[in-house]
Amino acid sequence: MTEPEVYFESLFPEDRELARIEESIRERGMPEISVEPAYGRLLTLLAAATGAKAALEIGALGGYSGVCLARGLRAGGTLTSLELKPEYAELARANLAAAGFADKVEMIVGNAADSLEKLEADGRKFDFFFIDADKENYPAYLEWAIRLAEPGAVIAADNTLLRGRTLNPDKQGPAVRAMREFNRRIAQDERLIGAHLPAFDGLALAMVK
Ligand code: SAH
Ligand code: DHB
Ligand code: MG
Repeated sequence: MTEPEVYFESLFPEDRELARIEESIRERGMPEISVEPAYGRLLTLLAAATGAKAALEIGALGGYSGVCLARGLRAGGTLTSLELKPEYAELARANLAAAGFADKVEMIVGNAADSLEKLEADGRKFDFFFIDADKENYPAYLEWAIRLAEPGAVIAADNTLLRGRTLNPDKQGPAVRAMREFNRRIAQDERLIGAHLPAFDGLALAMVK
């Protein structure tokens, strides 16, 4: 973390619920790649400020960002979370239940592209999106989010800097190229009001007009 990131992080009290989730991920030897605490707080704030009622998350891992999103939902709101790996989805479900959100969460296991197609076929719409799964598919996930969005929906996406690879011209792999394309679209797509936060690993924000 940069000095300013460390400074601001130090001001917040410990969050035991989220610390337990990080511990559960560590215990199982799963990748420790939950969203940064500062961005988790931002997800809660944005969901609450926009009165989110139907949030869609792509990439659940252990449920850290899911709990952050669920905390911000309006009364009666729901979180739909898409996760490829059954064992990750199971942990996310258990962690969301332990946080008191069992009845607000719908966990869909499988490749997100298939799940998104099914959600569209079912006529589902969402007012808040968090994109945080396989980076090569970020441009496709952005397009899906716009298609499934209610007007005014908010889209957030993690890891727009790919630990610096996004800015390194020597890096030309599929994930890096996809992320550059995604970042340009956030900045230029006329259907969106877009913004980029450069702290931590980068977070994109957009509102669907
Ligand atoms: N949002 C989580 C972290 C997600 S890490 C949090 O902050 O708490 C990325 C997740 O995306 C991993 O759990 C991974 O299994 C999942 N994933 C990767 N490719 C996927 C795909 N094609 N469809 C659905 N999930 C996928
Ligand atoms: C990494 C971090 C993430 O937040 C993520 O979603 C995927 C990968 C990483 O640092 O490798
Ligand atoms: Mg991430």
